Amino acid sequence: MLGQITYANPTKLYFGEGALKNLGPALQNVGKKILLVYGGGSIKKNGIYDSICKILKENNKDVLELPGVMANPTLAKLHDGIKLVNTHKIDFILAVGGGSVCDYAKALAASAYCKEDPWDKYFVKQLPVDNAVLPVGCVLTMVGTGSEMNAGSVITDHSTDMKIGRIFGEELMPKFAVLDPTFTYTVPQYQMIAGFFDIMSHIMEQYFSGTDDNTSDYLAEGLMRSLVHNSRIAVKNPKDYEARSNIMWTATWALNTLIGMGKEQDWEVHMIGHAVSAITNATHGMTLASVSLPYYHFIMDAGLPKFVRFAKNVWHIDPTGKTDEEIAKAGLDALKAWMSDIGLVMHLSELGATPENLDAIADGVILLENGYKHLTREDVVSILKASM
Ligand code: NZQ
Ligand code: ZN
Repeated sequence: MLGQITYANPTKLYFGEGALKNLGPALQNVGKKILLVYGGGSIKKNGIYDSICKILKENNKDVLELPGVMANPTLAKLHDGIKLVNTHKIDFILAVGGGSVCDYAKALAASAYCKEDPWDKYFVKQLPVDNAVLPVGCVLTMVGTGSEMNAGSVITDHSTDMKIGRIFGEELMPKFAVLDPTFTYTVPQYQMIAGFFDIMSHIMEQYFSGTDDNTSDYLAEGLMRSLVHNSRIAVKNPKDYEARSNIMWTATWALNTLIGMGKEQDWEVHMIGHAVSAITNATHGMTLASVSLPYYHFIMDAGLPKFVRFAKNVWHIDPTGKTDEEIAKAGLDALKAWMSDIGLVMHLSELGATPENLDAIADGVILLENGYKHLTREDVVSILKASM
C-alpha cells in the first residue's frame, strides 16, 4: 500500500541531441550575471565549453567562471566559491559537468549567503535552509547521480574524513537541466560504467525496503531492466545513441524522487560508499559496486520476498524447483554476472582500501535505520572485510 505522497519536481528537462539550443531561452529571465561552474577541464577538450560560452555571449550575459570542481567536491572548494559569490553579485549559477559539479553548485547556492558555518549547519546538523539561495541550472555531461533533477548535494571534508550528503528542498533543485546524450560520449569508460552502477544502486536503495505491493517498485523494476539491457550495449559501443540516451533518461528518473514515492527506502550502501570515498577518494559508483554484493547477501534473509521478486522480475530467474532462498541467490548471482560483464570494480582492495584503513572507513559510515536490517558497526566491518 502506498503511503502519503506529496509530489512536485520543479526541474524542467531539455532532453535529446541538440538540447543545448534551449539554453539561451532558459536563461532569458534569470538575470545578467552568470557564475559558470565546471570541473577539471573535460568540457574544454570536448567543445561543450565553447558552445556554452557562445550561447552566453549571444544572450548578453556577463560570465564569471568557477572552474576546478573536483570529483567528490570538497569543503575547501566550497569555501572558495562562497568567497567568490560574496565578492561579485551573481544572479544565476550554471553548472556544466557531472554530479560533482551539479552537487557543488547546489551546495554553493545554499551556502553563499549563510551567516553561520554552512558545513556544520547544512551538512553535519542537516538544519533547514533559512537564508536566501541562488538559482541553479545544469548542463549535464556525465550520467549517474541524478543530481540534475534532484535536491541532493554531497560534499567531502578531508579534515574530518567525512563525506556527507544533504537533500535540500525544492528551492535548490535545478531550475532546468539540459540533457544531451551525445555530451556523454567522451566520458572515460571507467567513469561511464561507474555511473551505470550508481544508477543501479539508486534504484536498489529505493527498491530493497518495505514489504508492501506498490507502483514505485514496478517502476523501479522497469528502470533496472532498461539499464541492464542498455548498459551491455553501451560498454561495447559507447556511441550507441539509443543505449546512451535510454541510460541518461533512466538515470534521471532513478533519482528524481519519483520511484521512492510512498515507500520505505534503504540507502545504507551509499553510506558505506561515502565512507570509502572519504578515506580513499575513490570514484563514487565504484565504491558502491565494491560493497553491494556483500551487503545484499548480508540482508537477503531479512527481505527474502523482495529478493525473490528481484530475481524473477529483473533477472528472469526461472523459479521452477528452487526454494525461495535459491531463487534470491540466483538473482544476486545474475547481478554479479552483469557487474562483471560491464567491467565494474568488484573488490574494495582495488580502490585503496587496506586492512589498516577499514576501521577508519567503518568509523565514517552513518548507520541508518531504514532497510531490511539495521547494521551495527561490527556488521559494517564484516561487510567491508567481505568486500576486500
Ligand atoms: O572534471 P572534469 O574534467 O569535467 O572530468 C570529470 C570527472 O573527472 C569527468 N567527466 C564528466 N563529464 C565528462 C567527463 N570526462 C569527459 N567527458 C565528459 N563529458 O568525469 C569525472 C567524474 O565526474 P563526476 O561529476 O565526479 O561524476 P559523477 O557524475 O559520478 O558525480 C559523483 C559525485 O556525485 C555524488 C557523489 O557522491 C560524487 O561526489 N552523488 C550525488 C548524488 C545526488 N546529487 O543525488 C547522489 C549520488 O548517489 C552521489 O552520491
Ligand atoms: Zn549514488
